[in-house]
Amino acid sequence: ADPQVAPEALLGSPLTLIQPQPSLPLPFDLFRDHTGRGRDNSQGLDLAVPVHRQPLLDALAACQVPTLAEATNAEVDEALSRLKAGFPAWNATPVAQRAAVLRRAGDALQAALPAYCALLVKEAHKSLGDAISEVREAIDFMRYYADEAERLADDGVSLNGRGVFVCISPWNFPLAIFAGQVVAALAAGNCVAAKPAEQTPAVARECVALLHAAGVPADALALLHGQGETVGARLVASPVTAGVCFTGSTQVAQIINRQLASKPGAGTLPLIAETGGLNAMIVDSTALPEQVIDAVVQSAFRSAGQRCSALRLLAVHEAVADGVIEMLRGAVRELRVGDSANLATDVGPLIDNEAFQAISGDVQRLKTDARVIAEASLADGGPRLLAPIAVELSSIAQLKKEIFGPVLHVVRWSGDVEDVVREINGLGYGLTLGIQTRIDSRALRLASEARIGNVYVNRNIIGAVVGVQPFGGEGMSGTGPKAGGPHYLLRFAAPVVATPVM
Ligand code: NAD
Ligand code: ALA
Repeated sequence: ADPQVAPEALLGSPLTLIQPQPSLPLPFDLFRDHTGRGRDNSQGLDLAVPVHRQPLLDALAACQVPTLAEATNAEVDEALSRLKAGFPAWNATPVAQRAAVLRRAGDALQAALPAYCALLVKEAHKSLGDAISEVREAIDFMRYYADEAERLADDGVSLNGRGVFVCISPWNFPLAIFAGQVVAALAAGNCVAAKPAEQTPAVARECVALLHAAGVPADALALLHGQGETVGARLVASPVTAGVCFTGSTQVAQIINRQLASKPGAGTLPLIAETGGLNAMIVDSTALPEQVIDAVVQSAFRSAGQRCSALRLLAVHEAVADGVIEMLRGAVRELRVGDSANLATDVGPLIDNEAFQAISGDVQRLKTDARVIAEASLADGGPRLLAPIAVELSSIAQLKKEIFGPVLHVVRWSGDVEDVVREINGLGYGLTLGIQTRIDSRALRLASEARIGNVYVNRNIIGAVVGVQPFGGEGMSGTGPKAGGPHYLLRFAAPVVATPVM
């Protein structure tokens, strides 16, 4: 079979792209569907969006990624003044009207899904499967925040925008996270200065054009492409800025936090930050090994490990460690590493040469300092391809930093599983955690002891679903509130103080 051509069955049915995961019933009762419809937590809202093969292949063939000029200081300042002037009108627009605009944008994105997928493949080097999931997630955000704004209004909560919100996003979800931030800020009545990652401005520009065409006024949303240290820093520093929504590294979130804190009279400016993680999966001796391996391979290596939610640390009980490691070695050997536009590829390239150099250096160091237990081969050549690798460490404390690529650390544990959770908590991050066990009460106990934003039981730990699994971390992984959850919009709005009638 030609690996470049997807079988009709794969792309013709969106259901086949999402593997249902076995799950324990209890923890998932915590995830509520905002529409009130009953659903399995493994099935996203996005299942409503069908995908067909031929338009995708046509869009890929036609797609060219433009080079965009970076915004100058004068353009940044002019855009902020324009947005400030546009704020009263957008904020006064009735919630139902704002929500209708955002739903129109979601419909337009659904209609243009193939073109956006192609851009994600070509500009962000996403696999086609990841690109499809990402466009669906962006559509979900548009519909979910429109629904949420109306739900809050129905509940008597007035969403009063704060002014001009600066939204700064990363390259690894250049459409879904970009759109999620922007749409949330708009839904709450703010005007938005959107700064995409410098690696992925083209998909952001298309998204902004789509939002304008759907009815977001030109003076309510502006795209400001450029480097973080220049354009991003100028936006944060501006006296016009009324709040910042940031997704990216913990280090940059800390820089922005300090910058906001040092602005004159700005102690109350909100910063919503979603950052990195040192995400673990705990495997006890009752876990199902095949399920563990499937979850580990998806979580650590899908998207070449370039997800904030990706698995970095597998903590496996001594009694089953040899067997799990042996199976992992076999599974990693099967991974096909190659070009992202090739439908047979499991693991695509890293985002850019800088990331490739840095992570290659980390891998070289690990090969000296730790025991390599599994490594994929690089049969297909290509730029920025890194073979997925797993190394064994002697303790959890040896894990020092997020390596944003297909690199997995494995440790063995024995004794008290609570000690393992304590050590994971001690890392200081708190984004995602996996628990693999057949003892329900243990899963619940560990989930409640872990200071981690998203805990997944007996499944992979990536791909939180908008409106079903609100996503966000604790500690150095983020400030909250969780994206795609019922508290998110409130943080973008100014508190409304009602005067009691005496
Ligand atoms: P990054 O922090 O380098 O960049 C993120 C954004 O910040 C970019 O738009 C960049 O231009 C901008 N930026 C950089 N310096 C800035 C400054 N001084 N002032 C203002 N803006 C500045 O992150 P990245 O490499 O784009 O993304 C990868 C990181 O993002 C990883 O750490 C990953 O874990 C994290 N991430 C977190 C989530 C989440 O939801 N928690 C989601 C995706 C990615
Ligand atoms: N929301 C994305 C995930 O859960 C980052 O993988």
